[in-house]
Amino acid sequence: MIEQATIQKVFDAADIYEVVSEFVHLRKRGVNYVGCCPFHNEKTGSFTVSPSKGIFKCFGCGKVGNVVGFIMEHEQMNYIEAIKWLATKYNITVEEKELTEEQKLEKTQRESMLVLTKFAQEYFAEQLMNTDEGISVGMGYLKRRGLDEETIRKFGLGYCPEAYDGFSKHASDAGYKKEFLVKTGLSIERDNGNLIDRFRERVIFPIRDIAGKVIAFGGRIMKNDVKSAKYVNSPESEIYHKSNTLYGIYFAKKSIVQNDRCYLVEGYLDVISFHTRGIENTVASSGTSLTVEQIRLIRRLTSNVTVIYDGDSAGIKASLRGIDLILEEGLNVKVVSLPEGDDPDSFAQSHTEDEIKEYIRTHETDFIKFKVGLLIEQAGNDPVEKAKLITSIVHTIALIPDNITRSVYIKEASSMMNLDEAVLLDEIVRLRKGKKLTEQERGFISAKKQETTAANVDMQAKKTAADKTSCDTEEMMLIRYLLLFGKRRLYETADDSTSVGEYIISELREDELTMLNIAAQRIIVDYTDNMYNADFVPEKFFTLHSDPDVCKMSANVLSEPYELSKIWRIKENSIIMEDMILADLLPKIMDNYKIRLVEMMASETNSKILEMQTAQNDDALMELLRKKASIDKIRSRLTKKLRRTGVK
Ligand code: CTP
Ligand code: MN
Repeated sequence: MIEQATIQKVFDAADIYEVVSEFVHLRKRGVNYVGCCPFHNEKTGSFTVSPSKGIFKCFGCGKVGNVVGFIMEHEQMNYIEAIKWLATKYNITVEEKELTEEQKLEKTQRESMLVLTKFAQEYFAEQLMNTDEGISVGMGYLKRRGLDEETIRKFGLGYCPEAYDGFSKHASDAGYKKEFLVKTGLSIERDNGNLIDRFRERVIFPIRDIAGKVIAFGGRIMKNDVKSAKYVNSPESEIYHKSNTLYGIYFAKKSIVQNDRCYLVEGYLDVISFHTRGIENTVASSGTSLTVEQIRLIRRLTSNVTVIYDGDSAGIKASLRGIDLILEEGLNVKVVSLPEGDDPDSFAQSHTEDEIKEYIRTHETDFIKFKVGLLIEQAGNDPVEKAKLITSIVHTIALIPDNITRSVYIKEASSMMNLDEAVLLDEIVRLRKGKKLTEQERGFISAKKQETTAANVDMQAKKTAADKTSCDTEEMMLIRYLLLFGKRRLYETADDSTSVGEYIISELREDELTMLNIAAQRIIVDYTDNMYNADFVPEKFFTLHSDPDVCKMSANVLSEPYELSKIWRIKENSIIMEDMILADLLPKIMDNYKIRLVEMMASETNSKILEMQTAQNDDALMELLRKKASIDKIRSRLTKKLRRTGVK
């Protein structure tokens, strides 16, 4: 741990102009500096450094951040590494914090657990390779599944004997503490205090982190008949967080970088079979839907992902959401669906490397095309269904951060759906409002708008799409005002000393609302904690925050896209600064935000309720109905209040 004081010293010393200049040739323009962006290919110089705000921003690719963020991005370092890099540059001694007793304990706990999982992996492998039971039962099974010995060794597969407590006993005899046997989930404690093996009579798939350390196990049952689960996995623990882990990432990482592409499959054996065919850039989400953390793990290595799915469409539908998530993180997604009845494992087993590669090459569809195709099939000619389809596509496309990619998809989707491009574009632009429009998009809209003839279906589509309001813009504006004007008084009157910050915090609290964006949530929480500190300068506090996502968001809201539109700024030919009309403006934005947020929550909950009704999941349904009741309460309170204050 680095001392907070050291971090502060680094921030005080580090000059963003000086640091960026080491890598980018900068020219002065007004109060800022500009140069060619080091993060994307350009010749125009969209990359701006603002020494006064301490941030950089590229108007071409959208990258934005403070001085630490720049080093993190440019040198591919994590936060601590970047701080150390800057400390070296500015001759600052890095004071490492003495760990507290608690932290020490936690650290040694993790280490103890990792020693044990390594020990267990070796034990299971030994059982598989060198015992009669392991060879006949475990090895027999793996060989029947088409695995060769080299692969089995490489992945460190193993076997846990049938005996109730074979491993637990062996580990206890070797001096491993009960506490860690239970915490890693390798053993389960019975009521009488005895330990039994979680994975008994299963073949073992060790799960490694990206550095290769064994952090968990999956165990597969070998019989087909029994009622127990096909796979048993280690529970969540200090060393294993399922949502941060991708099976196979350690063995795949080199190949992912070399091929600049990652294949994403579902299961342990899918990964292993692809490897045996020489396709090593393959990882698995292990049967659950993808998480943002997993996607970010991939993004460190490549921005191209191909999702390979079983032939049946149930799996595909379940994963549509996961794929939306991949798009949102700025990755390029392709989808390959395998012939009916095949999963990646069986397909790899029955084809050669060349055949697999050829199949992928010829069946790879980009995701939008894939989703449109799938949904068109479902919607048929029903106009209402078609409208829903358009809404869904529009939302997906709007997630894509890159302008050019987005416009390619808009073209493609509109031609597939037989729809006017302008209709789609209009909606997408609306959804992305608050993010900067490209010249191309602006010009395109005004040109297209005039020629748009609103066919019936199109109108319907537009309406449905528009119903689903997003409150992203309002949220960012509120954060912007919090950072810029948080400590100022909102009203000029002598008897009301409410600050802008107090107003925003108390308004949200009154209606029990939390912001949607995680970083925004964090800002609200930290703001509340610090708002009465005399030396708290929100703008500085949050652009230098230890959470990189918060830094990014702060830098983002402080730069152009969220500044007021020209309409607000130029009124009767005089420029009105946004803070001059804040008392007027802020409550309007706040009310708008609340209404949109609550409507969104309501519509989301309603559709989940429908979903759960269909699935006949009564527990989830009850929970949702409770949620709906509380949202309705907020909603009615809000509408009453708005009527009272006369805001629309
Ligand atoms: N999985 C799990 N627990 C289960 C079922 C599945 O953890 N009870 C995970 C495993 O990582 C598994 C993946 O989900 O590999 C995919 O599940 P499934 O398609 O059912 O299994 P396969 O990988 O096809 O396994 P096998 O080929 O061994 O039947
Ligand atoms: Mn399978």
